[in-house]
Amino acid sequence: MTLKSENVVWHVHAVSREERERRNGHRSFILWFTGLSGAGKSTLANAVESDLYRLGCASFVFDGDNVRHGLCSDLGFSEEDRKENIRRIGEMAKLFTEAGTIALTAFISPFREERQRVRDLMPEGEFIEVYCKCSLEVCEERDVKGLYAKARAGIIKNYTGISSPYEEPEKPEIEVPTDQLSLEDSTALVLDNLRERGLIPR
Ligand code: ADX
Repeated sequence: MTLKSENVVWHVHAVSREERERRNGHRSFILWFTGLSGAGKSTLANAVESDLYRLGCASFVFDGDNVRHGLCSDLGFSEEDRKENIRRIGEMAKLFTEAGTIALTAFISPFREERQRVRDLMPEGEFIEVYCKCSLEVCEERDVKGLYAKARAGIIKNYTGISSPYEEPEKPEIEVPTDQLSLEDSTALVLDNLRERGLIPR
């Protein structure tokens, strides 16, 4: 992305990311959950974070509904706004990794290109895409927030899966069939994968 302001120069941090990681005792990276609304992204991200916390890792969960109350409160659900939403979250998550933290993000992030853009911000192997794979039928049946019913009735426009597209990840690092596994098994699947990658302590 080009800079709008000309006279800004990148300032090197006195404490490096590597030093922070060393002190924390683990690597920092982005754990990017994607999937339909109701697929269990926030639930799984929070369960994974609870385990990371117990292991003594520095981490933080960003979630769509919460971030849209603050940092992204000026954005709606048009294609353009969703892209800007993901761009901001990506940059913010990256800053958290520079602070030595594991950034877990739970956004629908429906567009492949935008997810790829965030991946490209990170060094190889430090963007872990977790696809919460859940059929639209199950998401709609759960309809925790009652929004699918409103989308079907045409009250909410551009609803992902109903009147706005969701582009499935082609090669996610982790795929979790959240409509088939228990929360406990889904969480274990993610944690085991992170251990195998050497991203968290055994
Ligand atoms: S994203 O597409 O920009 O990644 P994000 O994850 O921030 O979406 O927000 C999704 C949440 O906003 C959903 O879980 C749902 O509660 C709510 N929401 C409200 N309107 C819509 C809509 N038109 N499409 C999808 N989600 C919506």
